[in-house]
Amino acid sequence: MRIGVLTGGGDCPGLNPVIRAIVRKAYNDKHEVIGFKNGWKGIIEGDTVPLDLNAVSGILPKGGTILGTSRTNPYKKDKGVENVKESFKKFKLDALVAIGGEDTLGVANKLVKEGLNVVGVPKTIDNDLNATDYTFGFDTAVNIAMECIDRLHTTAESHHRIMVAEVMGRHAGWIATHAGIAGGADVVLIPEIPIDLDKTCEILKKRHQRGRTFSIVVVAEGARLKESDVTKDQSLDEFGHVKLGGIGDYLGKEIEKRTGFETRVSVLGHIQRGGSPTAFDRVLGTRFGIKAVELVENKQFGQMVSLAGTKIIGVPLERGVEKLKTVDMELYDIAKEFFG
Ligand code: F6P
Repeated sequence: MRIGVLTGGGDCPGLNPVIRAIVRKAYNDKHEVIGFKNGWKGIIEGDTVPLDLNAVSGILPKGGTILGTSRTNPYKKDKGVENVKESFKKFKLDALVAIGGEDTLGVANKLVKEGLNVVGVPKTIDNDLNATDYTFGFDTAVNIAMECIDRLHTTAESHHRIMVAEVMGRHAGWIATHAGIAGGADVVLIPEIPIDLDKTCEILKKRHQRGRTFSIVVVAEGARLKESDVTKDQSLDEFGHVKLGGIGDYLGKEIEKRTGFETRVSVLGHIQRGGSPTAFDRVLGTRFGIKAVELVENKQFGQMVSLAGTKIIGVPLERGVEKLKTVDMELYDIAKEFFG
């Protein structure tokens, strides 16, 4: 078989282990693999790179994606879908493995309905993709965020300050909740629950009163204010960010103003998305890659690979993109036990 592979959307640690596993499994099972550069853009433009054993040698520990990525969506481009179909013919593809998040897999799902043989591999550091227990990249991001929180703790304690750490998570607070629990945050704020500024400051003041003169507040970038706290000049953007700036900066200023405690803000940003994947993400990516080739071999098109408990299974792409997977409130309640 001739199998095409592409990586779309934001990059994340673990993509290269997936690509490597696809190529190795395909080689063992006597298939040919062809890589498309920069997500859907590569297949639209016929921009390819051969994926043989040499091409994937040494890439396991590398962050990012050797194929490059983009946020190009063929359905939003003139003749985009037509060009994808032409590339299928031109490169004699029997199947395509699309590795990506909500948007990339949404395109994959639509293309299957147009008759193309596509399978998906879910990816996002945010861990908010439905129908899989975890996505690779998430564990690496959480470990980076945890290390940053540990570092913020020591300087917060020395200076008797409040440190606000803004972590990634546009629509869901998985990174904030996991890193908050792992790093011992005193407050964790997530997009799923509008921020209550009074309550947050109350927690910090109480903590101060019992002699803890420093605190760590972890906030997901997509967390938004409680409606009653939004003033006229501060409408929220489509991601629920305070338009005047990031939510972390806004929160830092408000906390300092309302509590009188000196506050500093660190926005971790793309640091969480770069660098080498953790062992967990390397193993998960490898298992996903192997399973993706199996789905192709079994002609289970329209499916994506998924982690269900400890097993890797195939599930309909449809389920992966039907809704976002938001934070489990039982987990958030555990983070809350340590507030203050
Ligand atoms: O979806 C993954 C993610 O890292 C989000 O957490 C973040 O909001 C977004 O991508 C950032 O995207 P970009 O790399 O385009 O700035």
